[in-house]
Amino acid sequence: NKAVLAFSGGLDTTVCIKLLEEKYNMNVITACVDVGQDKEDIKQAETIAKKYSYKHYTIDAKDEFVEEYVYRAIKANAIYEGYPLSTALARPLIAKKVVEIAEKEKADVIAHGCTGKGNDQFRFESTIRAISDCKIVAPIRDLNLTREEEIKYAKEHGIEIPSGKKYSIDENIWGRSIEGNILENPDVEPPEDVFMWTNSIHDAPEEPENVEIEFDSGVPVSINQKNLEPVEIVKKANEIAGRHGIGRIDIVEDRIIGIKSREIYEAPAASLLITAHKSLEQLTLTREELKFCNIISEKYAELIYNGLWHEPLREDLDKMIDHMQRRVTGSVTLKLHKGSIRVVARDSPYALYRKEMVSFDEKAIDQREIAGMVKNYGIQALIYNKMFR
Ligand code: ARG
Ligand code: SIN
Repeated sequence: NKAVLAFSGGLDTTVCIKLLEEKYNMNVITACVDVGQDKEDIKQAETIAKKYSYKHYTIDAKDEFVEEYVYRAIKANAIYEGYPLSTALARPLIAKKVVEIAEKEKADVIAHGCTGKGNDQFRFESTIRAISDCKIVAPIRDLNLTREEEIKYAKEHGIEIPSGKKYSIDENIWGRSIEGNILENPDVEPPEDVFMWTNSIHDAPEEPENVEIEFDSGVPVSINQKNLEPVEIVKKANEIAGRHGIGRIDIVEDRIIGIKSREIYEAPAASLLITAHKSLEQLTLTREELKFCNIISEKYAELIYNGLWHEPLREDLDKMIDHMQRRVTGSVTLKLHKGSIRVVARDSPYALYRKEMVSFDEKAIDQREIAGMVKNYGIQALIYNKMFR
């Protein structure tokens, strides 16, 4: 029996290789999908795979991740309970790549290292089932293993424990998710060693910095007047915002099964680009559209978080979003300083803003014509108040 294992090189998935061989009698092909995580992690996955798996693939999916997943999330301003969905967005793509390897290798089993407590099991499996008929095996969940039991199993089977990380970390170009260890106490401030991409307020530059982001149809195309490929835009945004300590997120979130969990995220690019994108929408979309965008954002984020990327509503929403985003073109300047981010300028050929209408100095609107509109405004409140005064 051949199994393709979604492999990260971390403790869970490394233990899975041996478990699949020993307890499930399988030949294990490992597949590591590069969605912009630390290069060292990808190398580590390759080194470990060389030792324990029968064949290994590293699949570069960075461009596809940014263009087909991250950019949709930007257009939708997709944020779930304060979390920009970095891990959640990558799961359906990782699953898709693993399915492709399974087809190529004619494997009939796909395995993952998720626990039974988390969200990722839902996201992986819903995608795998939507696009393939492979059987799914989840050894850690099947055997109800704790972290400690995994470490014990690894030692007993002579598996080198992947270089000791203090926390459980998931990383891709859209953000880092950090949990576990002392972070499991929501009443404790995260120590500085949790953060890799963002400066502390203390270490951030004393001087503020302005950054200009240009959007075309809802997606960023240049930073500081320099056109860049999507992956490069996100990298650059992470670097600039991270330097100023932007994008540290500390929340208690509601997992799919209902457990509350304390999560730390670093998502500098997401904070920067979504803030800029929203401000361009304020300039270009109507009041009715903006109000409806909030509803769409919330629904869109919920679908992604809940692992429902393949739910048709997601595609339906994308169609509507794309139609609205045609006008979200223009540029936004933000001032970054010591963890704070503030929009200071914006411009668009599709702006609905009209200076001649709003200005104190101009006469495009005859003030006298508004008097009748004002006079009858709040008529129900007037009647109500009269009754009781
Ligand atoms: N709670 C987040 C999510 O469900 C992140 C989970 C990331 N996993 C981790 N090992 N840190 O998307
Ligand atoms: C896991 O529990 O397998 C990882 C975290 C998550 O799925 O939320």
